[in-house]
Order: sequence, then structure tokens, then C-alpha cells
Amino acid sequence: MIVLGIETTCDETAAAVVERFADGRGKILSNVVLSQVSEHAAFGGVVPEIAARAHVEALDFIVARAMKEAACDYERIDGIAAAAGPGLIGGVIVGLTTAKAIALVRNKPLVAVNHLEAHALTARLTDNTPFPYCLFLASGGHTQIVAVRGVGDYARIGTTHDDAIGEAFDKTAKLLGLGYPGGPQVEREAANGDANRFALPRPMHGRKDADFSLSGLKTALRLEAEKIAPLSDRDVADLCASFQQAVVDVVFDRLRAGLRIFRAKYGAPNALVAAGGVAANQAIRKMLHRLAFEHGTVLVAPPLELCTDNGAMIAWAGAERLALGWTDALDVAPRARWPLDEIAAAQGALQRTAAYK
Ligand code: KG4
Ligand code: ZN
Repeated sequence: MIVLGIETTCDETAAAVVERFADGRGKILSNVVLSQVSEHAAFGGVVPEIAARAHVEALDFIVARAMKEAACDYERIDGIAAAAGPGLIGGVIVGLTTAKAIALVRNKPLVAVNHLEAHALTARLTDNTPFPYCLFLASGGHTQIVAVRGVGDYARIGTTHDDAIGEAFDKTAKLLGLGYPGGPQVEREAANGDANRFALPRPMHGRKDADFSLSGLKTALRLEAEKIAPLSDRDVADLCASFQQAVVDVVFDRLRAGLRIFRAKYGAPNALVAAGGVAANQAIRKMLHRLAFEHGTVLVAPPLELCTDNGAMIAWAGAERLALGWTDALDVAPRARWPLDEIAAAQGALQRTAAYK
């Protein structure tokens, strides 16, 4: 089964062609990502209107390139998948509408994929990870611990009460005058800094639930920075190192609680799976390895280019759904908000719609 996937929910215009074999293994035939980072950098964050326009300008070309690199024509494609949310609605509309047009013209089934589900299922594309597994999803917009029990079967174990982890990295970078996106910049600075110089809080530490809170940490960092302003290069490096270490400690503690909840409710997970841009952080990855080992499981962390937003994960999620016979009508709506644990319900609604027809 070969699926074309389109991703436009944030600031990456991406398309990919992925094959799924009958035994459940996957293969990426092409994976083209055009980052809009330079277009948003001057604003210190993603500007939705600029993002949507950039998607319109680039998407046709990116799709054509993905098809060409896969050496694939539309005859061989079994379905067209697009991220239908959650995300910046202008961009989502661009990607989903393009997918609908291709599906209509080429007479192929459409699969409306939840962007978070695509992150959640990437481990099956890269490592063929069997269900159930515990997902730690941390990106610029999301911070969640999820029990992934099957395609379309997700139970949220923990979430953030305020900022996402990637957002906290981005805000820290902005505060310290580093560029956007902040995660990689903070990580780079942290490598030369002293993580013990500033005593930053570890919010939610020791709680039984598996929720996160990052805004207190961000505020504490700002207060420390204000105390010693103007900042030298050393100060910036030390602040970054202290911040990153606090995040590592917070994630360790919250995920430990999450794994306990997982075990109690669903038994032993087959893996701890990391996804989202924050999983690119080497200090966080190292800690996740240790945590998985301590809990008698393994860490599955997709390669960096599959951790951040890409088309292959959308194509793959589309292929997994298509393999189950799940497709969507051409009038499926784009969604700015679409929590992962609402997917099963949406599937139910879809089946009801089909029955009604
Ligand atoms: O998954 P992603 O590409 O996009 C979405 O938000 O969906 O994640 C981007 C986020 C940004 O907030 C970025 O700062 C963060 O991931 N990030 C990192 C690193 N690389 C990217 N955070 C910490 N360390 C990194 N090395
Ligand atoms: Zn993402």
C-alpha cells in the first residue's frame, strides 16, 4: 500500500510518499520538507498568516517533488493523506484542500489524519513497535503522555497545564536574545554552561498524576536573568544549562509517574516512544534512555528528521488507517483543535455518517 502524505499544520510545508507492507512494516519512498523558519525568524515565532501564504506558494511544488523523488505516479498511489488538524487553521486548510483536490481528480481515497496521531504512530514506521506503548510527545504546541493501544485508540495519561515544553524552550531563547526556533539554540548554549549556577524550580515534582506545568519555570528563569542583567555570554550559557537541566528533571519525574499509571492501567508498555521536536534534544534523549531502562522497557526515538514535523508521518498514519479500511469523506472539516483522545469518537461519528448514507 502506497500513500502520499501532506503536512501543513505549522511552519513546515511537507509531503512524502510511504509504503506499508502487508506485514505492517513501512518504508519511506520520499520525504520532502520545506521549512519556513527564515520567514518567521524576524518575528520570534510562527506568524499564522505568513505561514498559510507560504504553504499556498510552496505546496504544489513540494508534492510534485515528493512524487518525483519516490519515482511514483498517481496510478500506484492507494490513498492521499493530509493532516486535518490540530494546528494553525489557515495552513491546515491549504494542506487538506490540496489533498481533497488530488483525491477527487485521481479518484483515490482521502484520509484525514490527526497530526498528533501521526507523531504517535511514527515509531511503527521506523521501528515496527507493537502496541501498546507509552508515548511522550513534546513539541512547540503539545506536551502529552499517551497510552497508544492501537490505531485510533489513544488514552491521554498526562498533559501540560500551561506552556508546551518546546514553547518554554522558544520563550527562554527569546528572553535571552537567542534566535528562533529556540530549542536547538538553547541546547547549543547549554553545552557550554553551568547547570548548577541557578536554582530553578522543578514544577509538579513528586505528584502522583503525570501532568506538567512549565510557566513557573519560565518565570523563575526571567527573574534570575533580570537580577544579573546585562547578561554576558557566560550568563546566557549558564541560564540555558540551568533551564535545560530543570526541564530534564521535570520530564524524568513526570514520565516516571506516567509510566506508573500506564503499568497500572494497561500493563507493561512495549516501549517508551519519544516524538515531537523536543525529542531532538540530546540531554532529554539521554535521560529518556535511562528512564526506559529503569522501567524495564526500551526507548524508541525516531531519527531527528522524523521527530520534527514531516510528511512521512502523515503518509504513514494514513496508510495505517487505510489498512483498516478507514477513509474520510471529501467534506471532512479542518480542525484547529483536535485532542488525540477524541479520535476514537470521531471514527465512531464517521461510521455513523457512512451508515446514514
Ligand atoms: O514537532 P515540532 O517540529 O513542531 C510542532 O510544534 O509541532 O516541534 C518544534 C518544537 C519547537 O518548540 C522547538 O524549539 C523544539 O521543538 N525543539 C527543541 C529542539 N529542537 C526543536 N527543543 C529542545 N531542544 C532541541 N534540540
Ligand atoms: Zn508536530
